[in-house]
Amino acid sequence: MEDLLRFVHVLGATVLFGTGLGIAFFMVMANRTRDPAKIAHVAGTVVVADTVFTATAVILQPITGALLARELGWPLSEGWIVLSLALYIVTGLFWLPVVAIQIRLRNLASQAAADQEPLPQAYHRLFRIWFACGFPAFFAVLAIFWLMLTRPAIVLF
Ligand code: HEM
Repeated sequence: MEDLLRFVHVLGATVLFGTGLGIAFFMVMANRTRDPAKIAHVAGTVVVADTVFTATAVILQPITGALLARELGWPLSEGWIVLSLALYIVTGLFWLPVVAIQIRLRNLASQAAADQEPLPQAYHRLFRIWFACGFPAFFAVLAIFWLMLTRPAIVLF
């Protein structure tokens, strides 16, 4: 059971991190083209990928994590777990607006493509917010990886 949980947990971590990084890369590359039709297509795919892969992993990760902790005898009040959970919430707080912004970016780019107009100012403003939100989320996940792998003895209370 422990091996299976660990396998699913690490698989979830891979999907979470890999999809996030992949999405960020392809969105930035699409944005660089300044072509509304291309951006609309990539942003549309990104919205689907976030729903299918990221959202699934986001829900499964704490579940497999909690089950793994129970299996291995780690209390959830253990310092590195509490810190990871806090960072996980921080990641979620930055990720949720990102998902909403991606839908807006897709819609704005689709509209610009349909009207054969350049991308509107609102698009560029939202893209900057989207980009800025990615950084704290990315570093929070890196910190979680580190905490999960090193499991430092942290006394919080
Ligand atoms: C959200 C709540 C989470 C909980 C409660 C949790 C809990 C755990 C536990 C109990 C372990 C096993 C520690 C041990 O072997 O003694 C573990 C390992 C691990 N976790 Fe998490 N985890 C969570 C989220 C995450 C996230 C978000 C990631 C990365 C994106 C992640 C990546 C890992 C990795 C890479 C390991 C190492 C597996 C190994 O060394 O065998 N975990 N986690």
